[in-house]
Amino acid sequence: MTEIPESATVACRVPAPTDPLYDPADVRRLFDRMAASYDRMNIVLSLGFSALWRRQLLGLVPAAGSPRTVLDLMSGRGETWAEIERRFPQAEITAVDFSAQMMTQAQVRSHARFGGRVRLREEDALAGTTQDATVDVVVSAYGLKTLDAAQLERLASEVVRTLRPGGSFAFIDVTEPGCRALRFLYRTHLRWIVPLAGILLLSNPTEYRMLHRYLAGFGDGSRAVEAFRSEAGLRVEVRRHFFGCAMSISGRRI
Ligand SMILES: C[S@@+](CC[C@H](N)C(=O)[O-])C[C@H]1O[C@@H](n2cnc3c(N)ncnc32)[C@H](O)[C@@H]1O
Repeated sequence: MTEIPESATVACRVPAPTDPLYDPADVRRLFDRMAASYDRMNIVLSLGFSALWRRQLLGLVPAAGSPRTVLDLMSGRGETWAEIERRFPQAEITAVDFSAQMMTQAQVRSHARFGGRVRLREEDALAGTTQDATVDVVVSAYGLKTLDAAQLERLASEVVRTLRPGGSFAFIDVTEPGCRALRFLYRTHLRWIVPLAGILLLSNPTEYRMLHRYLAGFGDGSRAVEAFRSEAGLRVEVRRHFFGCAMSISGRRI
């Protein structure tokens, strides 16, 4: 079943961000503007690594117990669903994203490739609408960097609240590598190549320049690690992928 509530609620109980960069309304508008080109640019942005890391993300979730419900947070256009289905063919997928334009694209994907089976919820992932202890697995790819520390803490507490005891979670996002030479290449890529690709492919590099700001602000992802580690109800593991160009946070609810 595909479902988009008519009036999406964005009722966050998170304090307003001190840095306007993390204002949820602005982040939502940014992804609304990027929705049409996101698939193509995602490949350019990550030099093709994004798909590999999504596969590795699902590999972090134990297949034992055959989870029935998988929640894909900050799901975008549904880029992670093929990997979810490959790992958990029987599971019911629910996707949450607050960008209406991303959700419109996601709905097309759900119908075209998944027989309309993916449930779509257009809402803030921090809104707290999922019922307590009803989810077997929470996954999320590339959604952490646009959240500030307080929002990440809220996200981690939502994971604890919504997972069934023993349920698993896995998040992944792009990070700045620790090695200085690689970091130089990474920053050059983000600062110059990505906006240039924006001009060539889309005639508008502005949105992709914004992504550079979020990635620079996210750094090595330590604020996300701290948020998840501060949750007593979670067992947390952190992994670096491809020399620290991405970072995953995974584990289970105790
Ligand atoms: C970089 S995209 C990632 C999309 C997809 N998960 C992927 O693997 O490519 C980030 C997505 O997170 C969504 N997002 C960011 N913050 C959110 C929030 N607080 N609640 C819901 N969606 C959010 C954006 O609208 C965007 O679609």
